[in-house]
Amino acid sequence: MDSMSFILFGATGDLAKRKIYPALYNLFIEGKLSPSFSVIGLGRRELTDEAFQNSVKQSIHTFSRNTPDHQDTMTAFLNVFRYCVLNVNQIGDYYKLLEVVNQREQELNIVENRMFYLSVSPEFFDVIVLNIKESGLGTTQGWKRLIIEKPFGRDLLSAQELNENLSQAFLEEEIFRIDHFLGKPMVQNLDVIESSNPMLQTLWDNHQISNIQIIADETVGVEERAGYYDQAGALRDMFQNHMLQLLMMIAIQVSNKGVAGDVRANKKAIMESLRPLQEEDIIHNVVLGQYIAGELNGNPVIGYADEQGVSANSRIETFMAARLWIDDYFWNKVPIYIRTGKRLKEKATRIVIEFKETLTESKKNKINSNKILVIDISPNEEVYIQINSNNPQNHVASIPERMNCYSNEKNMPEAYEKLILDALCGDATFFAHWDEVELSWKWVQPILNAIDNNLIPLETYEAGSYGPKGSYQLLEVDGHRWALDA
Ligand code: BG6
Repeated sequence: MDSMSFILFGATGDLAKRKIYPALYNLFIEGKLSPSFSVIGLGRRELTDEAFQNSVKQSIHTFSRNTPDHQDTMTAFLNVFRYCVLNVNQIGDYYKLLEVVNQREQELNIVENRMFYLSVSPEFFDVIVLNIKESGLGTTQGWKRLIIEKPFGRDLLSAQELNENLSQAFLEEEIFRIDHFLGKPMVQNLDVIESSNPMLQTLWDNHQISNIQIIADETVGVEERAGYYDQAGALRDMFQNHMLQLLMMIAIQVSNKGVAGDVRANKKAIMESLRPLQEEDIIHNVVLGQYIAGELNGNPVIGYADEQGVSANSRIETFMAARLWIDDYFWNKVPIYIRTGKRLKEKATRIVIEFKETLTESKKNKINSNKILVIDISPNEEVYIQINSNNPQNHVASIPERMNCYSNEKNMPEAYEKLILDALCGDATFFAHWDEVELSWKWVQPILNAIDNNLIPLETYEAGSYGPKGSYQLLEVDGHRWALDA
């Protein structure tokens, strides 16, 4: 691992506390960071180095999967943290930052490798990268890299503008766009599951697969994020990024998937084969919903429109389901159903592959044969096959049974740990390339236009359910159903 400076914008923010510091801490105790590394946290508030270090310590105790056994370990970790006040619009503050960065590089004998992490609202991305360039922070003897978090734009045009601005200061290979779903261990495991199991490989095409279901159901509502969510909705918040990334990851066919270029080129090919939705098709292929009051785990839950910070007449979708088609050799004629929503019955991110009926079954005219491969991504990490089996006790001829193939250990590295480590090593395999982001926005843009023009009905669904009626009908017309809904 190279020596480096980790320069964190938004160092007092929620993401830094919940994810970034715990990730750095776990990488540190596992010896995955260079002995020469410096972290410089930036924020608007005045803070001493000591107060900053204390808040980092607090966040490790609250959010890290491992907490310190020895005070010495924590002290050694915290020693590398420094804090600087920075107003993102003031170029003078960037010159001061450069002095601190240089000073720490000399003290710790760090080659000028600089990781800039923008854990701030996207409206500041442009100004920050331009000031990084202007101030000379981005002119280094070693490497420079940029980590940014979604949302990358609000629509196709704003995403293109943002990318143009970023590329004034950073090359595409220097930009690491985090989509934290790509850091989930089971998502990183998809290629191995698919390419290292000959038994599955023989089943892995449109001759055997009837449909694919990609699901990210959530029980949470909008929490404290109504201000953001009521402008974004499920399409921008989840679908354009996480859900389409899951689609690309499950659909790519690469024998040597460990190679970033291959993975990304193949993901791009999938997006290019994704059938565009024409305006007249949208209503038949997209379902939007908003939750109304209901009950979750025995507790009453208020409706979205009554949440604090949500405008009373909000037309924002908290649920989206869609039917998609990849027009390529492998997936031709395999419908892909995607569903995501807030305040649903359970928290589950999973991919379900449903296999076709055999000739014998078709003859018996069985519509639902339950032959599915389930890849549970989170919170459970499991792969299992559901097969039909006879139940001798109550003489039912065929009931679905689970055949477990794989189940993850507890205390696995978190998505952010894996992604930050990859970025520090310069491995972009599990980051979103601009081509993927742009193609995703291109696919989504007609739906955004249809929403703006009120062409898609906004259905309601009860909190604690599996979503609106339209979501069931979407599959029923094809003779399918959401495989695991109770
Ligand atoms: C975030 C979305 O990107 O992903 C949130 O902004 C969502 O609205 C979250 O809750 C889901 O992530 P996870 O890892 O909890 O499934």
